[in-house]
Amino acid sequence: MADLIAEEKINQIRQAIDIVEIIGDYVQLKKQGRNYFGLCPFHGENTPSFSVSPDKQIFHCFGCGAGGNVFSFLMELEGISFQETAIRLAEKAQIDLQINPTQFSKQKSISKELQAMYDAHELLRKFYHHLLVNTKDGQHALEYLLNRGFTRDSIDKFQVGYSLNSWDFIYKFLLKRDFQPEWMEKAGLVIKRERDGTFFDRFRDRIMFPIFDRNGKTIAFSGRALGADEPKYLNSPETAIFNKSKILYNFHLARPHIRKTQHVILFEGFADVIAADRSGVENGVATMGTSLTDEHISLIRQNVQSITICYDSDKAGVEAAFRAGKHLSEAGCSIKVSLMPDRLDPDEYIKKYGDEKFRIEVIGASLTWMSFKFLYFRREKNLQDEGDRLTYIEEILKEISSLPKAVERDHYLRQLASEFSLSLDALKQQQKQNYFAEKRNSKGQKQAVVMPLSIPKQVNELKPAHYTAEMRLIKHMLKSRDVAYKVQELLHGNTFNIDEHQAIITYLLGFYEDHINPDPSAFLNYIQDDKLRRIVVNIEMMSINEDLSDQELNDYIKQVLNYQKWLKIKEKEMEEKVAEREQDFKKAATIAMEIIQLRKSLKI
Ligand code: UTP
Ligand code: MN
Repeated sequence: MADLIAEEKINQIRQAIDIVEIIGDYVQLKKQGRNYFGLCPFHGENTPSFSVSPDKQIFHCFGCGAGGNVFSFLMELEGISFQETAIRLAEKAQIDLQINPTQFSKQKSISKELQAMYDAHELLRKFYHHLLVNTKDGQHALEYLLNRGFTRDSIDKFQVGYSLNSWDFIYKFLLKRDFQPEWMEKAGLVIKRERDGTFFDRFRDRIMFPIFDRNGKTIAFSGRALGADEPKYLNSPETAIFNKSKILYNFHLARPHIRKTQHVILFEGFADVIAADRSGVENGVATMGTSLTDEHISLIRQNVQSITICYDSDKAGVEAAFRAGKHLSEAGCSIKVSLMPDRLDPDEYIKKYGDEKFRIEVIGASLTWMSFKFLYFRREKNLQDEGDRLTYIEEILKEISSLPKAVERDHYLRQLASEFSLSLDALKQQQKQNYFAEKRNSKGQKQAVVMPLSIPKQVNELKPAHYTAEMRLIKHMLKSRDVAYKVQELLHGNTFNIDEHQAIITYLLGFYEDHINPDPSAFLNYIQDDKLRRIVVNIEMMSINEDLSDQELNDYIKQVLNYQKWLKIKEKEMEEKVAEREQDFKKAATIAMEIIQLRKSLKI
């Protein structure tokens, strides 16, 4: 890192940037005492065990152990390198990195290509939009959209465009602006012909929906056919800047609304998101024709817990809603499902019934996840038929068993009992049986039973005395350079018992050689090893007495050293036993003396 960006610059960035602000862009944080808390973006959870310390400029998750400073946060979450992180943060803090161009040339050529991709997309977004709204060539496309109920406002807001019916207009357009054909191909904008190596435009005569990343940069397109051409939507391929499984359509515009309403609506299609937005539902996003991935869910969970699934109401849509709901509920989301009559999709519904009815009777009247399942398991069953009916009741009972709250279970059991005129007691009994059978079956597998909300793990579970002593010493050493040197002196060449702890103090003493003042965040950058970083953050989060008396310091050191002696004693005791068994009484006596000496030294 130091070869490319001066350490002084890194320090400058660290001082200018507030970790709370950066993490706050990804995680909803609530202040509690000195620290901020939120749901961990690195693992799914229901109770906040993720904390950010503004004083120390570090974060830590008690649940999964993730931890670090603002650099490691962005590196891990965005999957970017240290340099990229530094560049981003420097931009934010308006610090000129003054990167030496010769040193940076390799990096630069990579980012030059990426930059070209971004630039080409930006340029084409504007151009496609211009073609749609201002030109004769795009007039039929504009009419098509207006006919479908799109308004000029939403066409502008979503930057919808039109690609000409030409094989090489875009290719030439970009070539004239110095974009290399290879880059255009890598960006997915043109396709290379096998036979002669020439290029042609990927998108021709289509309505163009730009796809934005979470910062509002155009990174891909989806082009809808005007007629019955196949495919209906043609998407950009996966590229260095576009990964379908991570992108939610409209996320960048919806995010402030998602935050404000604490709620997100998940749609299946672009047209649905745009129609909903027009009707006043601005917190909608959509996947891009793929099922919901873990990455999508993690992106959602970083922002909100409560979600409404508003998929098409045809058979495929209902199946997809069930799968998405299951996936989301496993990630701890609170889920509702909106249904529409006549197998309509949201866009068609809005066109037919209007904005208000959509807001009130579809979004406003969405079902709880359990009520949706009551309906879902009914599909393709004839409940007049006894066999079907029993299967249905079994399925529903199983779902009820997975509800964590007794009141909820009771509520739905009553509903089931009354619908099928069953005895509530019998249902309850059956449900309990199912519950325990399920529990037994699922040993070793994924728990089918949702456990009650877990309490964040204690920072330090009960650990042996020497272990805690080492952690406390490290904590004090992190806070004071003097203490660090003092501990080193008191150890008299001995080491800490826990290898990781020893590695940390070795790093720390190295760090203090050229850093006069302690700095938790800077130290994290200094450590090369991820596992050690996590341990340091864990230690940083411990609370300790602010002042360290000599007495306390000596006690800790004694505990560290005593453990080594204690191990030695155990070893000697074994040797003594062996000697006795071998009837080598002289040797046994010598060992016994050594043990007495060791025991004596323990008491000092
Ligand atoms: P739908 O077929 O439901 O389209 O696909 P739609 O959203 O109702 O679109 P209109 O109203 O007919 O214009 C839902 C989503 O699946 C993806 C697109 O993201 C689309 O919005 N999709 C669909 C594709 O990627 N490719 C396709 O060929 C079709
Ligand atoms: Mn549609």
